[in-house]
Amino acid sequence: MKGVILAGGTGTRLIPLTLVTNKHLLPVYDHPMIYYPIGSLTRSGIRDIIIVTGKDHGGSFMNLLGSGKEFGARFHYALQDNAGGIAEALSLVEEFTHGESMTVILGDNVFFDNIEEEVNSFKHGSRLFLKEVPSPQRFGVPVFENGSIIGVEEKPQIPKSPFAVTGLYIYDRTVFDKIRALKPSSRGELEITDVNNMYIKQGEMTYSILREPWLDAGTFDSLLEASNTVKKLGLKPLI
Ligand code: DAU
Repeated sequence: MKGVILAGGTGTRLIPLTLVTNKHLLPVYDHPMIYYPIGSLTRSGIRDIIIVTGKDHGGSFMNLLGSGKEFGARFHYALQDNAGGIAEALSLVEEFTHGESMTVILGDNVFFDNIEEEVNSFKHGSRLFLKEVPSPQRFGVPVFENGSIIGVEEKPQIPKSPFAVTGLYIYDRTVFDKIRALKPSSRGELEITDVNNMYIKQGEMTYSILREPWLDAGTFDSLLEASNTVKKLGLKPLI
């Protein structure tokens, strides 16, 4: 199992903070945001990790993280020239994964669950991680029928369930063929939700529900909430 952290994008929702640095290098309380997804992967036993980021601040990631030795991991880096979407960023790691399955985390997502069991038992298809949230319309939202997910709707005005599809996914190698078949969405991006719907159509999607706190730190309010939660609960990113 390989690890993938997607830390590109433009960070427009955090301007002016993101005018001089990348969103994922901003602090969530007392650590840079990127430490949290790194910890999620290393806690699950994943050591071989690639970080995809934009070209503007690529060097800062290397300065901060180095080879990964200090994290007990081996880091690789890839650059996404333009913010063409989460699925486009993922397409850049095909060579790195070398036919293996991969656990993918969005760099602005903060998780504290241990997903070692899901990682170790994964065979094929894909797995989503869901969390019940007060405002699902901000996220991808699963639609259920008889306990199975029959579709994911991206930021629906009227959500059909109280769950968010969090930015944590396990995929098999077929994800790259699915991305090649994608067309850009109305916002001009290759959408990860479209990839997930392809797996669902093939009957190749499973899911888990997270037990621990989950935070998306991509807006001013959610970044503040993430910092406050980490401080209040005494959470540490790398343990
Ligand atoms: O946080 C979970 C949500 O993340 C999911 O519920 C949604 O289904 C999913 O589409 C995504 O929504 P966001 O609107 O929060 O995605 P955002 O554009 O903020 O991108 C999230 C991360 O993905 C960002 O921190 C870096 C990475 N990314 C994004 C884009 C657009 C890239 O690496 N490259 C990109 O081109």
